[in-house]
Amino acid sequence: MIAAVDSARLQTELTTLASFSESPAPAVTRVVFSDMDLRARDYLKTLLAEASLVVREDAVGNTFARWPGGMPSLPPVATGSHCDAIPNAGRFDGTVGVLGGLEAIRRLQRSGFQPRRSIDLVMFTSEEPTRFGIGCLGSRLLAAALQVSTGDTLKSDGRTLNEWRFAAGFSGPLSDVALPAGSYAAFVELHIEQGPILDRRRLDIGVVTAIAAPASVRIVVEGEGGHAGAVLMPDRHDAFLAAAEIALAVEAAARGTGALDTVATTGVCEVFPGAINSVPSRARLEVDVRDIDLARRDSVLAAIRRACEETAARRGVTVHVEPINADPPAQCAQSIVDVITAVCEAHGLRHIPMISRAYHDSLFMARIAPTGMIFIPCRNGVSHRPDEYSSPDAIARGTAVLADTLAALAE
Ligand code: GLV
Ligand code: MN
Ligand code: MN
Repeated sequence: MIAAVDSARLQTELTTLASFSESPAPAVTRVVFSDMDLRARDYLKTLLAEASLVVREDAVGNTFARWPGGMPSLPPVATGSHCDAIPNAGRFDGTVGVLGGLEAIRRLQRSGFQPRRSIDLVMFTSEEPTRFGIGCLGSRLLAAALQVSTGDTLKSDGRTLNEWRFAAGFSGPLSDVALPAGSYAAFVELHIEQGPILDRRRLDIGVVTAIAAPASVRIVVEGEGGHAGAVLMPDRHDAFLAAAEIALAVEAAARGTGALDTVATTGVCEVFPGAINSVPSRARLEVDVRDIDLARRDSVLAAIRRACEETAARRGVTVHVEPINADPPAQCAQSIVDVITAVCEAHGLRHIPMISRAYHDSLFMARIAPTGMIFIPCRNGVSHRPDEYSSPDAIARGTAVLADTLAALAE
């Protein structure tokens, strides 16, 4: 079955896609609506046209490529993922699900399979939060999980989301993006695991049963700036030092649950005015908190808020905490988990059920369609780094499992 996947072609396409990057290889940086993102989209569209897929782009740039089925009145099945990449990322996060999804469709086409249901390949806009601060922008809008007014309120580099998308060529009202529940009979996403379990245990496939609940907050600390030489230490209200204590409290809050499934990260720290001889007057943190258990995740958020209040009082600074997102976990549909598992069994692949600690567009697709995910191993579990790596064989196996899963769901 794996032989039927054109692994060499898929690898060439992954390499070409990785070349559309704002950072030098092996790092990949491809922020939504950047020049590189638009060039990557153009490249993808040439591949979609070669496969005779019917392409539609919505108002936020979600791209749908349809292989029409024999019974087009039936809700289609869909697969897909994202092509944007965080700064200094690798080449496999998201792209394996888009180009692997395309190769899965081509493999079915080559085999002479005629789907009853149409099969859509979806490339979601901005799964990564890099530009607009919130992840899964395209799939949130598809699932009506984000207000369309964010078109005017989300900003990046002084431009609103609406201005960015218009400039990128995606017009029309954001309210047109939402798809009603029932639009798809099923959604299946192929993705690298981004964690160590499959690689450590030498397994081929992870069958995802649930996706952990992500939340993020922006924390702005206002202190008092001044001359780094002249402001006496007892007189200081250094915004960065307060932020540093808060970042440590974030770590302590996550470790404090005692559960491996609780994670928290302070991935952004911006210091103003950012001069070596100036006491920081303002600091901005962005904090990411996740857990498969919603109540436990929320208890960590509450602990972080308490730490902010305590630090503010003790250091004589003000701390403002602004929620960015707080999403519930998603359950994969048992019917799809069963199909993926049966495909793995049929082909003698070593597989386990597992949860996804990373979020994916599937988190939101699960709100409007029965959803499943196929994980493949990545070396040492490394992701969001230039040395992210999944072997050609692992990618081919995942693509083959996806192809057979789509065939079972679409026939
Ligand atoms: C997705 O990139 C995530 O941060 O889980
Ligand atoms: Mn990612
Ligand atoms: Mn991803």
